[in-house]
Amino acid sequence: MSSSKLTSTDRESLLHAARQALKRAHAPYSKFNVGAAILTEQGEVFTGCNVENASYGLTNCAERSAIFTAVQNTKAPPLRIRAVAVVNGDEVPCSPCGACRQVIAEFGENAIVIFKGQKEYLEMSVQDLLPESFRLS
Ligand code: THU
Repeated sequence: MSSSKLTSTDRESLLHAARQALKRAHAPYSKFNVGAAILTEQGEVFTGCNVENASYGLTNCAERSAIFTAVQNTKAPPLRIRAVAVVNGDEVPCSPCGACRQVIAEFGENAIVIFKGQKEYLEMSVQDLLPESFRLS
C-alpha cells in the first residue's frame, strides 16, 4: 500500500481524467456537475460523474460512481485506491461528502484525495478527511 506523494504528472493526469468525466454528469436538478477519477495502486485510472434522479435521494456522487466502476473493472482485484481527484463545473471549493469519504476509505485507507479548496487544489489523506472511519472487525 502506497501513501507516498503523487508526482505532479500523476496529479495533472488524474485531474484531466476527472474533467473529462465531468462532461458526462447528469445533474439537471442541482445543475452542479461533478467528475471524479480514481488512481489504483496498479496505476489504472477509472472515472465517474454524478448521476441525479427525479427522486432526489437516489443521486450518486461522482466519486462513488468512479469507485463502483473501478471495483468492477480493475484488472487486479480487490480494488486498492491510491488517489482520487474530484472536480466540478463551477470551479468552486468542493471536498467529497461524508458518504464518499467512507467509501474511499473502504478501498484505500491511505488514499490521497485531491479537491478544490478555497483557493487552489488541495491534497489530503482520507485519514485526515475521515478519522476513525467505520470498519467491520
Ligand atoms: N456531488 C458529488 O458528485 N460529489 C461531491 O463530492 C459533492 C456533491 C454531487 C451530488 C449532487 O448531484 C450534486 O453534487 C449537488 O449536491
